[in-house]
Amino acid sequence: MYGSVQILRGADQPCYVWASRKKHNEGRGSMGETLTKLIYSSNHGGLSSGALDSILHSSRSNNDREDITGVLVVGEEDFLQILEGERSAVAECFMRIMQDDRHKDIRIMLAGKKSSRSFSKWSMHCVKTSGAKRAIISRYYIDEVFDPSRMSQDALEELFQTLAACK
Ligand SMILES: Cc1cc2nc3c(=O)[nH]c(=O)nc-3n(C[C@H](O)[C@H](O)[C@H](O)COP(=O)(O)O)c2cc1C
Repeated sequence: MYGSVQILRGADQPCYVWASRKKHNEGRGSMGETLTKLIYSSNHGGLSSGALDSILHSSRSNNDREDITGVLVVGEEDFLQILEGERSAVAECFMRIMQDDRHKDIRIMLAGKKSSRSFSKWSMHCVKTSGAKRAIISRYYIDEVFDPSRMSQDALEELFQTLAACK
């Protein structure tokens, strides 16, 4: 099981108050649904080979079905993920993610409404801090470490905006 869940100050819509959908796909595309983003960080402590592939495989297939888009940033020790989609779909997805024992110390960093998607083409894009986007991500290192749990909300917004702009 995951280690702990922490809601940081400033997360204006804690997931706990997001009700699950009563029926699968109910409300999808309806006028009442709100486009929502959720950014969280977690610790994987070092990924085994194949673990990331497996996470991405199920993420992409589920997110395609649920019309969720986003990015998973994979650091040496930590994940940082943004999910965007209808509020109930994002909440349900996050409930599954919270129960996943492939990471721990899950912290909601930012949650709220969105007027439009930033990553509409990506069911779950993966960016490794050691990969081609390192130059972008290393700007946000604190004490030479990628520790998303210590990033400010402004830094998170800016990082994801930059990643969206260079897709
Ligand atoms: C870091 C991380 C990110 C994940 N992101 C997603 C995601 O975006 N969408 C998703 O459906 N599952 C995601 N998962 C997987 C879920 O935790 C869970 O295993 C999966 O949703 C179960 O779906 P399945 O029953 O279809 O395999 C993620 C898991 C981890 C560890």
